Amino acid sequence: MTECTLVLIKPDAVRRGLVGELIGRFERKGLAIEAMRLRTMDAELADAHYAEHVARDFYPPLKAFMTSGPLVALILSGDQAIDVVRALIGVTDGRKAAAGTIRGDLSLSNRENLVHASDSPDSAKREIALWFPEHPV
Ligand code: TYD
Ligand code: MG
Repeated sequence: MTECTLVLIKPDAVRRGLVGELIGRFERKGLAIEAMRLRTMDAELADAHYAEHVARDFYPPLKAFMTSGPLVALILSGDQAIDVVRALIGVTDGRKAAAGTIRGDLSLSNRENLVHASDSPDSAKREIALWFPEHPV
């Protein structure tokens, strides 16, 4: 079933010059870019995007990182796109992510892990509305 998912190419990836590499991986997989925007997250958007994590110990440094510079927000579509993108990026901690995944190949951090991707149909719907309010649901 064709799905849409929300992807953020995080500020570490933009600083490291990995935007093309990461978009290339998604394109080569066969996913389509439905929308794309360079944007710097502000505090309000960070709190809304990470609503499930705002009370966690790791949230203050995560918020500082995510608001530290521009990121690239995209909507990607394709067959089972939500699970497919999560598999491409790998588990959260770059030190533990499998080789061959984006985080496994390119990140050595549990925070600066290059990419965010929606983890369920509900989160995709919520996150797409947050980042691309003009996008039809
Ligand atoms: P989470 O939703 O658990 O991971 P994922 O991005 O794989 O869906 O956490 C959101 C982000 O919070 C994660 O990408 C990096 C950061 N984070 C930390 O900085 N420390 C932590 O211990 C965890 C679990 C996450
Ligand atoms: Mg998550």
